[in-house]
Amino acid sequence: MNVLDAIKNRHSAKNFDPNYIISSDIKKNLLEICLENAPSAFNLQHWRLVLIEDQKQRAQIREFSWNQPQVTESSMLVVITAHKNSWQNKVAQRVWSGATQDVQSFMMSAIDQYYHGRLEVQRDELMRSAGIFSQTLMLAAQEFGLDSCSMVGFDFGKMAEVIHLPNDHVICLMVAIGKSTTQRYPKIGKLPFDEVIKINSF
Ligand SMILES: Cc1cc2nc3c(=O)[nH]c(=O)nc-3n(C[C@H](O)[C@H](O)[C@H](O)COP(=O)(O)O)c2cc1C
Repeated sequence: MNVLDAIKNRHSAKNFDPNYIISSDIKKNLLEICLENAPSAFNLQHWRLVLIEDQKQRAQIREFSWNQPQVTESSMLVVITAHKNSWQNKVAQRVWSGATQDVQSFMMSAIDQYYHGRLEVQRDELMRSAGIFSQTLMLAAQEFGLDSCSMVGFDFGKMAEVIHLPNDHVICLMVAIGKSTTQRYPKIGKLPFDEVIKINSF
């Protein structure tokens, strides 16, 4: 599938075939493609993913997700969380350890300058990276003949309890993947081009 078809075919599936199984190999392959290729600020890869494979846990999550069917019907349910301290030296050093000494020093200093003491920037960056990761995952899923839905319709506090979220992590969103059982609905309500696109400034 070419990229434009993947972009155009992706839609937020509301129901999935609950009997459709995605093999562990395909799940791994799909995730590896995204982990290796999704962009992240300073290559920090803030994301940490929790795959919810346990059906009892899925049922429990559905209860605090507005009873949305995707939670129990999807073949793959991924909670995208992020590590709040990804920018700190000990973590950042790992992802830059393959670079030359000069590049490493430059990056460590740039990362520290950009994030240090700037809580809003730290959080914005996690969410940006998680959003881009999610879209990468959903488009890659298209290539595997799979449908998806990004979701924030759930109680974040309860989700944190269920997945034992560490204190230094934050929940960003969840992505459900599987075989959609419903017809794709028309892409309605899109805002006019000129209202959204400005040239050079507002
Ligand atoms: C951050 C985010 C959260 C969303 N949460 C939900 C959700 O909880 N349940 C749901 O059915 N759709 C959810 N959606 C899907 C949107 O409703 C959907 O993307 C939008 O209506 C456009 O439709 P389309 O994705 O089919 O093009 C979410 C989308 C985004 C980007």
